[in-house]
Amino acid sequence: MPSDESIKTSTGVTTSRRTEPVSAEKAADDAYPTSSKYALELNNVEAFYGTFRAVAGVSLKIAPKSVTAFIGPSGCGKSTLLRVLNRMHETLPGTSVKGQTLLDGVDLYGPKVDPVRARRLVGMVFQKPNPFPTMSIFENVISGLRLGGVRSKSELESVAETSLRKAAIWDEVKDKLHQPGTSLSGGQQQRLCIARTIAVKPEIVLMDEPCSALDPLATLKVEELVRELAVDYTIVIVTHNMQQASRVSDTTAFFSMDEQRAGYLVEMDATSKIFTNPKESLTEGYIAGRFG
Ligand SMILES: Nc1ncnc2c1ncn2[C@@H]1O[C@H](COP(=O)(O)OP(=O)(O)OP(=O)(O)O)[C@@H](O)[C@H]1O
Ligand SMILES: [Mg+2]
Repeated sequence: MPSDESIKTSTGVTTSRRTEPVSAEKAADDAYPTSSKYALELNNVEAFYGTFRAVAGVSLKIAPKSVTAFIGPSGCGKSTLLRVLNRMHETLPGTSVKGQTLLDGVDLYGPKVDPVRARRLVGMVFQKPNPFPTMSIFENVISGLRLGGVRSKSELESVAETSLRKAAIWDEVKDKLHQPGTSLSGGQQQRLCIARTIAVKPEIVLMDEPCSALDPLATLKVEELVRELAVDYTIVIVTHNMQQASRVSDTTAFFSMDEQRAGYLVEMDATSKIFTNPKESLTEGYIAGRFG
């Protein structure tokens, strides 16, 4: 039986976390022991495009099964940092990463870690819903499993249904699974993309402004979904919408830029604290809409 326990993050935030027995698959996988009490731990992380330092000296810790919002002005490196967290940054030519990024206590950039596997463990949902255009709803959801070599029809069907249910879109698509993914509305496409991300059973789900292309109702649905997903997953969500950050997240990290336009972490704390009584005047000014 899973049991609930409270852990303290580095920022002193108490977060409820559910501990589960380590699965046999995980226990067998020495590259990813679940040894850490943090889902993610960053120590002095820097990210470069050529010689330009877009992210400077970021250190933070993220509790498992929590929602963390990344907020801050445009260009302060939020998307870059997300891409560092799932090893997508390095896919652009001339880029580099420094510092330490630990996933479940294991160095994500260590020599034993396969970047493709890292991207499965750390899934990403983008700003614009991006279902694969030539694929049906069903094929979209199971595309990652197919790539991973799963052939069993019953397994694929079962994962598709579970993932679409978890993404709160099953009832809307169950009678048209073989229609194109692109035939859905924007909000439905975004939930389909979330289903596709969770179908491969990631540990972490990164979301880069997932609601910015959605209307208010579709936005609310995705926000509700984010809260539900936090029961099983660790979620990091970038948003420019302060109400959204305060509605969905447990913890908020506020970033800004220095004179060289390098993004840095100003402070990270319980969302309620950041929005009512932040330590830094910079944070207060941003939240009050005085700059950024
Ligand atoms: N492919 C790239 N090549 C060179 N510089 C880049 C590239 N992508 C981003 N940058 C630069 O890195 C910095 C951080 O950009 P990033 O997109 O991470 O910011 P952001 O906080 O996500 O901004 P926004 O809120 O507008 O999405 C910016 O100065 C940007 O111009
Ligand atoms: Mg961005």
